[in-house]
Amino acid sequence: MTNIAVLVSGRGSNLQAIIDSIENGYLKAEISVVISDIAGAYALERAKKHGLNAVHIDPKGFETKESYEEEVLGVLRNKKVELVLLAGYMKIIGKTLLSTYKNRILNIHPALLPAFPGLHAQQQAFDYGVKVAGCTVHFVDEELDGGAIILQECVEVKDCDTAETLAGRILEQEHKIYPEAVKLFVENKLHLEGRKVKIIG
Ligand code: GRF
Repeated sequence: MTNIAVLVSGRGSNLQAIIDSIENGYLKAEISVVISDIAGAYALERAKKHGLNAVHIDPKGFETKESYEEEVLGVLRNKKVELVLLAGYMKIIGKTLLSTYKNRILNIHPALLPAFPGLHAQQQAFDYGVKVAGCTVHFVDEELDGGAIILQECVEVKDCDTAETLAGRILEQEHKIYPEAVKLFVENKLHLEGRKVKIIG
């Protein structure tokens, strides 16, 4: 069983999708710890409801990004974490975590990357007037929302959409492709060639 850590900052609906996929047997993995940089993140409550270790590590308690990440790393090592999932985690991952967990950190982004990286991606796509929006699961590297793409799903933009209704339909797809991508990872079916991810079988 792969030991997973989920890093969160907010409501945690993607965390919930991963928890549900484990509980219903779709995903053969274990969430060893959920770490939030925000004390009041609802994601921590979700974790506790499911009996998971839920930890708040306050970045303000550390002088540098490195020392904050060393603290996070200490927890990950202690829990023997093999795979790190970012699920609405609002901090940029630094060298400390990246070097230790190279190609073992995944993120979900609510746009079809490389279009609309960064914050408010659904709003960006909506304002741009795209006809097809969507979401992406990718490996995390030094570049913001720039790592190799594992899975993407499209969402059609309707004339009657607002940025909010569009974001809602994108979120439904996020909850499908994130567990799917994690399943591929834990079953060792992802083969990285440069920045291309081949799915074995
Ligand atoms: C999601 O839209 C995710 O794609 C983005 O942040 C949001 C987090 O939502 N990275 P939640 O906390 O998982 O509900």
